[in-house]
Amino acid sequence: MKQDTSALVQTSWKKVAAIAPQAAALFYGNLFEADPSLKPLFKTDMRTQGNKLMQTIGFAVGKLDDLDALVPILQNLGQRHAGYGVREPHYQTVGAALVKTLEQGLGADFTPAVREAWTHVYGVMAEVMIAAAKSAPGKPA
Ligand code: HEM
Repeated sequence: MKQDTSALVQTSWKKVAAIAPQAAALFYGNLFEADPSLKPLFKTDMRTQGNKLMQTIGFAVGKLDDLDALVPILQNLGQRHAGYGVREPHYQTVGAALVKTLEQGLGADFTPAVREAWTHVYGVMAEVMIAAAKSAPGKPA
């Protein structure tokens, strides 16, 4: 991960983390607007789910400069997601909902460089999760 990419993501995430519950609500609103058919995959109440999502993104963002620690966590997360019924194309929908949420949450701070850094970071996270899901026996992504 390039230093400036992780720094841009980490700095911008701090602002989103400060409004975590609202950001999580915005995110699910964006996601279900983009693809309402994803709703039934989510069984846990949205507040708990939203907290976990924000915590995990926060954790991942904090570990961007320590990929040795981050990759196995994402691999496990990707394998669990296959079990939730998540498939490869869903990652693109979630990525777009995340970028839209960051845009809404950050306003003018969501500069083109910040957008590019997040797109890269989410893309790498999704790639690791998808690859791990594919290698999980009996659970194609
Ligand atoms: C970087 C990408 C993602 C991150 C960091 C993430 C994070 C999480 C976390 C932390 C959980 C809680 C359960 C656990 O730890 O296993 C979870 C559950 C879940 N995620 Fe994700 N996720 C990502 C991508 C996706 C995608 C692409 C989908 C597709 C719709 C998705 C749908 C779900 C569903 C359906 C659950 C289970 C909800 C439930 O049981 O109610 N996630 N996710």
